Amino acid sequence: MKPCIRILHPFYLSFVPTNFSKFEWFNHKFHTSSSRVLGFKSIFNHSRKAISAPSSTSGQARILSGTNFNNRGYHVVATVPSNIRNFSKSVETRVNNQNFEKIYVQGGLNVKQLVPENIDLDETLPNNDGDRAQVIDGGYGVNEENSNLAGVVKANKKESEVEKEAWRLLRNAVVTYCNSPIGTVAANDPNDKMPLNYDQVFIRDFVPSALAFLLKGEGEIVRNFLLHTMQLQSWEKTVDCYSPGQGLMPASFKVRSVALDDNKFEEVLDPDFGESAIGRVAPVDSGLWWIILLRAYGKITGDYTLQDRVDIQTGMKLVLNLCLSDGFDMFPSLLVTDGSCMIDRRMGIHGHPLEIQALFYSALRCSREMLTLDDGSKNLVRAINNRLSALSFHIREYYWVDLKKINEIYRYKTEEYSTDATNKFNIYPEQIPHWLMDWIPEKGGYLIGNLQPGHMDFRFFTLGNLWSIVSSLGTPKHNEAILNLIEAKWDDLIGQMPLKICYPALESEEWRIITGSDPKNTPWSYHNGGSWPALLWQFTLACMKMGRMDFAKKAIELAEKRLPVDRWPEYYDTRNGKFIGKQSRLYQTWSIAGFLTSKMLLENPEMASLLFWEEDYDLLETCVCVLSNSSRKKCSRSAAKSQILV
Ligand code: GLC
Repeated sequence: MKPCIRILHPFYLSFVPTNFSKFEWFNHKFHTSSSRVLGFKSIFNHSRKAISAPSSTSGQARILSGTNFNNRGYHVVATVPSNIRNFSKSVETRVNNQNFEKIYVQGGLNVKQLVPENIDLDETLPNNDGDRAQVIDGGYGVNEENSNLAGVVKANKKESEVEKEAWRLLRNAVVTYCNSPIGTVAANDPNDKMPLNYDQVFIRDFVPSALAFLLKGEGEIVRNFLLHTMQLQSWEKTVDCYSPGQGLMPASFKVRSVALDDNKFEEVLDPDFGESAIGRVAPVDSGLWWIILLRAYGKITGDYTLQDRVDIQTGMKLVLNLCLSDGFDMFPSLLVTDGSCMIDRRMGIHGHPLEIQALFYSALRCSREMLTLDDGSKNLVRAINNRLSALSFHIREYYWVDLKKINEIYRYKTEEYSTDATNKFNIYPEQIPHWLMDWIPEKGGYLIGNLQPGHMDFRFFTLGNLWSIVSSLGTPKHNEAILNLIEAKWDDLIGQMPLKICYPALESEEWRIITGSDPKNTPWSYHNGGSWPALLWQFTLACMKMGRMDFAKKAIELAEKRLPVDRWPEYYDTRNGKFIGKQSRLYQTWSIAGFLTSKMLLENPEMASLLFWEEDYDLLETCVCVLSNSSRKKCSRSAAKSQILV
């Protein structure tokens, strides 16, 4: 692999002196300094931000979007990336710093140098002279000293024919940028003439691919992905002249080939923050998955140099700051619009959907592990800890339902005015849906889909519940009870194809009002009660954490039988997942990768254990202390353990 890219972190654009627009400034600065550069190029794309790779392998380049600078829409200028920090004393952090110290730039001229990082893969990887952890033919290996990878590769059993096919398909889905693997397309059906955006690399979709590669001992593609997506973090206007918060990660990106003036072509990374997505949905989960994957990369490869990099630390802080900034919300849960996660269409999940809360919680736990502790980060870490305690209390206390709790709600008094109301959210018992009264088993329970003033969304959302188990957002008892419920409701939630995205489907008037008559989300199809093989790996991980390998095996067997025959569909329809989805893509990458990852996790329990979290009693203690509001004696681990929270 040749040295290739030098990319300017978008954050540098906040360094532009206020009397210049970003583009004027770059024009001014880089035109005047171009004589100092050889082989560096920048492109100003007329409509959107993108990051470019150079046409020559020896140079470095980046792309900055702006206005049309010439009649072809692109303007190539020479740049001096490292010169940018000379302007850093005019920097103002554009983040909300009321609660945190300035986390990006401190002390004017004494700025901690946020040097544009060279994503020169060969340079940044530990050197090749060290012991090779493994040799993988045709794979995307990473040579790491102290790597755990060797263990993974050794532990791999002989692959079945289905696994071999899945690997072939997964490798075919790999996207390269500047000759390096950088991600996988969402779907790769050669017969699909209308791929829409399924030919892009989706952040959330790449996670199971990344895990499959990591478990296979191939870290490079994941490392590249993490670095490049971080470079794409939002910094400019995207939807109707309005900027998303700085730090937003795109939903997806595409590698495009852009013509240069001299009949040459250059590859650019073109992100989509929702401005092109159907329904203009905000990809809130992207940054959270990015953080989760960053931790997984470190844990599985043993290469912690990536997470320690200044630019990666900055990227992480940008995501956190966006999530932790003050808004109008009253709860510790994250307030988001509809369709801001895996369910990226209108499905009535605006507000505080469980999936986002579970990902938020684990991203906070990951960040706490990965943030470099110094004066600049200590307030952020404190804020993370506080939020973790409050969030887990909130979810455990108000999202949990089982037979007993539903009976309590059934007998709720309403219109209680006071801070010590039992029915804090003023839930009318009539809201309990009829299906739930019949459906809730004696043994088991789950976390509801959403909670708002006067509103509980009682639907069972699979990803949120599974990820609550994985991240220990729920108590150990909750975690066990969720799996008990899945066992009791196997036919509804697993049926003929794991796993139902949510249960039950919205039908009739509810479907009309809540989905807005969405023809793609008809009852028991797609997001509205469809079955998604992509959820298999999360199920496997949750089962492994809870010692229920038998469940995972049973579900994987079902998938293994049908997926290759059905050509690896994106989703299945009907109540029990009998049919391939009406508009389902075929050769959907996360269906393929989810299957492979599940298999490999099952074969490597020690690797699986790196990917989940146990109960954190320190957090619990803080939570109990805040709640008990009483003597020091009660503020202890044992008090915490004995609370209802456990
Ligand atoms: C659909 C799914 C979304 C996924 C995307 C690409 O929009 O709802 O979760 O990321 O397809 O596969």
